[in-house]
Amino acid sequence: MGGGIAQVAAAVGATVFLYDLVPGAAVKARQRIEDSLRRAETKGYVTATVRERTLKGLRPIECMDEARGVAVVVEAVREELSVKQAVFQELEKKTQPETSLWTNTSMISITEIARPMRHPERLVGVHFFNPVPRMELVEIIAGERTSEATLVTAEASVRHWGKTPVRAPDRPGFIVNRLLDALLREALALHEEGVSHMEIDTAVRLGLNFPMGPMELMDLVGLDTIQDCLKSQAAGMKRPVDCGTDLPRLVAEGKFGKKSGEGFYTYET
Ligand code: CAA
Repeated sequence: MGGGIAQVAAAVGATVFLYDLVPGAAVKARQRIEDSLRRAETKGYVTATVRERTLKGLRPIECMDEARGVAVVVEAVREELSVKQAVFQELEKKTQPETSLWTNTSMISITEIARPMRHPERLVGVHFFNPVPRMELVEIIAGERTSEATLVTAEASVRHWGKTPVRAPDRPGFIVNRLLDALLREALALHEEGVSHMEIDTAVRLGLNFPMGPMELMDLVGLDTIQDCLKSQAAGMKRPVDCGTDLPRLVAEGKFGKKSGEGFYTYET
């Protein structure tokens, strides 16, 4: 997700610093974006000019201090409240007071992420969808203490990046993932009952006119991420976790979907 967000910002001419705790991961992310842009150019989605401008704007860094002074920081770390809280406590110290802090959380409360912050008015939820260059929607979520200025800046920025913002409530799953949660849980239940992943996907594609079925969508987003989302949604709605057994088994086997080469489907590298 982080790479996709960086790509759309750089495509309109922004300088984007890519940072990851794992050494070398930011350089690899830039390489993945370069490969994806080449494919997109071949398909006619982007021009050579946009590809070059995007790549020129992407700067992998190995130390967060190199990005001091940026206008916006977009966080896309894993979906765990304590991890996100720690990241923003550090970011508050490492950035200028006027820098907006965005979390790309899929479903964790913005109010909760901001709770240990000294300046929670700087934090806003800005939720992108996979694959980011292709999906037009961005949910904008205010926490209890997010300032109106932070919200308005986020909306204007994502519009400038070619996206359409909607304001979503700071409730578990916001709008889209709350609806998606119901679909995915029922798809997983059908799979446990013996219906094949291909039958489920074909049924949803042709019967509901969705561009892809729920099983391939889970593979696209990442089964580990989906598992985190289902758990977090259940906790937020105060009901038992309902992931079945197929999903946790695949995740335990390291089969995360498209990004690892295997999930419900198998992918060629
Ligand atoms: N600029 C750059 N790259 C572009 C581009 C553009 N304007 N337009 C498309 N591309 C790229 C895509 O990023 C993708 O790149 P890779 O080759 O690296 O995969 C590639 O072109 C695929 O795009 P296509 O349009 O050719 O593919 P397609 O027509 O088969 O459609 C799809 C694929 C867009 C994924 C479509 O099946 C779809 O819309 N599926 C549903 C997706 C969905 O529901 N997403 C939401 C997921 S939920 C979520 O993300 C929330 C969460 O918190 C978990």
